[in-house]
Amino acid sequence: MEISVTVNGTVYQRDVEPRQLLVHFLRDELRLTGTHWGCDTSNCGTCVVWLDEVPVKSCTVFAAMADGHRVRTVEGLAQNGELDPVQQGFRECHGLQCGFCTPGMMMTARWLLDHDPDPSEEDIREAISGQLCRCTGYENIVRSVRWAAGQEVQA
Ligand code: FES
Ligand code: FES
Repeated sequence: MEISVTVNGTVYQRDVEPRQLLVHFLRDELRLTGTHWGCDTSNCGTCVVWLDEVPVKSCTVFAAMADGHRVRTVEGLAQNGELDPVQQGFRECHGLQCGFCTPGMMMTARWLLDHDPDPSEEDIREAISGQLCRCTGYENIVRSVRWAAGQEVQA
């Protein structure tokens, strides 16, 4: 089936299998490999992107369901050559670690800060509770998001 999806501001028209998942459409069709695919059970959350304005696990969405909608991926976070404060925070506070969960964490963090500019540590942990990090823990990720919040509050 033919679909038309706006990804990070660019319109893409593609012929897709009705059963193709959005995560595979992004990675395999559009070569936007910043969105990771980490499980077959919808548990890891490394595949999180925005569908319109809402973070979704892109392994739980058919590409066909994105027809006529906007998708934002980690490649769409930086604006005008400037890293998003969330990306800067991950760099400053070593939130990257191995980097596998990072794209999904960043997309959720961006959404959180857009809705709650000054989240507590508890709020951040709640927001990312559907996403797994297998590295040293969540401490640096939480610090990264807090750092980004601090930057945006000052701005
Ligand atoms: S790939 Fe694991 S939740 Fe989507
Ligand atoms: S940074 Fe390695 S899985 Fe999260």
